[in-house]
Amino acid sequence: MAFTLPELPYAYDALQPYMSKETLEFHHDKHHKAYVDTGNKLLEGSELAGKSVEEVVKASYGQNQPLFNNAGQHYNHIHFWQWMKPNGGGAIPGAIEKKIAEDLGGTDKFKADFIQAGVSQFGSGWAWLAVKNGKLEIMKTPNGENPLVHGAKPILGVDVWEHSYYIDYRNRRPDYLKAFIENLVNWEHVEKMYGEAIA
Ligand SMILES: [Fe+2]
Repeated sequence: MAFTLPELPYAYDALQPYMSKETLEFHHDKHHKAYVDTGNKLLEGSELAGKSVEEVVKASYGQNQPLFNNAGQHYNHIHFWQWMKPNGGGAIPGAIEKKIAEDLGGTDKFKADFIQAGVSQFGSGWAWLAVKNGKLEIMKTPNGENPLVHGAKPILGVDVWEHSYYIDYRNRRPDYLKAFIENLVNWEHVEKMYGEAIA
């Protein structure tokens, strides 16, 4: 099956003032679409055509860099749209909050460390909350990489490519990350992915 660009799960202006309509139009309609289109071209005729996006990401890592870049970014963005919602942020679901307390030193430390992972990712990339060997870990990766290729399952990720924040925040990446964690995170999607990761 070919990659397909999913619709945003909310209106383009639904995340304002934290993420503008203009940012979502460019980010979803131009950037994500380009990963889908280029990924499909690179998949055509390859032995990975017909595999799931997760399988393509894992199988192309270190083997086919152009395909990996686009498949990784397709996977990352499919979830990135769902990891946000209008009136997001707020209370962390109980089971995840408890696990954060056990593995990451509590909610405040988790938020600070997650933001710091995004701030300190040099250049383009992502910051993550992932499950690895049954424990929560904060990770950061360059470009289109994600925890799937590091033996972990992502449950929350934030895009720190400039295309994700430069229109709204210019160079203020820390402000974007703070707005993401406090006002945008869709914890229901995190909870769903956590359930799948520990199953
Ligand atoms: Fe992006």
